Amino acid sequence: MLERINHAVSHIQNLIPAVPEYVIVLGSGLGKLEDEIENPIVIEYKDIPDFPQVTVEGHKGHLVYGTILGKKVLMMAGRFHYYEGYSMEEVTFPMRVFNGLGIKKVILSNASGGVNPAFHVGDVMVLNDHINMMPEHPLRGKNIDELGPRFVDMSQPYDKEMLNAAMNFAQANDILLHQGVYVGLQGPTFETPSEYGMVRYIGGDAVGMSTVPEVIVARHMAMRVFCLSVITDLGGPEIAFPVSHEEVLNAANNAMPNVIRIVKSVIETC
Ligand code: HPA
Repeated sequence: MLERINHAVSHIQNLIPAVPEYVIVLGSGLGKLEDEIENPIVIEYKDIPDFPQVTVEGHKGHLVYGTILGKKVLMMAGRFHYYEGYSMEEVTFPMRVFNGLGIKKVILSNASGGVNPAFHVGDVMVLNDHINMMPEHPLRGKNIDELGPRFVDMSQPYDKEMLNAAMNFAQANDILLHQGVYVGLQGPTFETPSEYGMVRYIGGDAVGMSTVPEVIVARHMAMRVFCLSVITDLGGPEIAFPVSHEEVLNAANNAMPNVIRIVKSVIETC
C-alpha cells in the first residue's frame, strides 16, 4: 500500500510546482467549481500509476492543480463510490495520495437527500457530524501505522475553524447555511420512505452515498476536513415523491453560486 501511494505521489509531484494547501473533492453536479481555478494543470487519473480508474464512460477522471484566491489547491473531478463496485481501499486511495503529497486540508462536497423537515431543495448544509452506515469500514484490516493509529478518534471529525468560517461568512452575506448530520448509506438505490424515516430517527439531517469513507480515512491521517452538502431532494415517511438522478444534478447546479462563495470564504480565511 505504501509503495502504491508513493508511486502515485511521485507522478503527481513531478507535474505540479508546489504542495497544494487544499484538496477539493467535487460531488455530483458540482463540477462548476473547476472553473474557479486559475492557471490549471490537469492530471488525468489514467496517467497516475496505481490510481483507481473511472469505468463509467462520460464520467470525469482528473485532478486539477492551480490557485483559488492565490492559494494553491488540488481539485478532484471524478469521485469513486462504493456502489460502483470499487473496494473501500479504492474509494479512499486518492485521500491517501493527497496526504502523501503533503496536503493537510480537505474540502469535500456532495449531493444529499434532506430528511430534516426544515430543509428545502437547493439548501446547503455544512456537515458537523456523520453516521457511518456503509456496509464495510475503510480502515478494516491490518493498520498501516505509518499512516495513522489503529483506533481513530472521531469526537470531532469536521474541523471547527473551517465550519465556523463558513457559518460566519453565510450569516454576514445572508446565505442560508444549515449545519447537520450526514448519514452515509451504500446506495445505489435512493431510500424508501421508511429508510428516509430511519435516517431521521437515528439523528440524520441528510443522507447520501459518498463522503463518509473519505472523511474516515482523512481523519485517520489527521487531515482537517470541511464538507458541504447540497440538499437535492427531500425524503421522509410521509413523502413519496420519486427522486431522479437528473433532479439531483439540477438542484446541485442551482445551488452552485452559493457553494462556490462558501468554499472560497473557507479557503480565504483558514
Ligand atoms: N439519497 C441518497 N443519496 C442521495 C440522495 C438521496 O436522497 N440525493 C442525492 N444523493
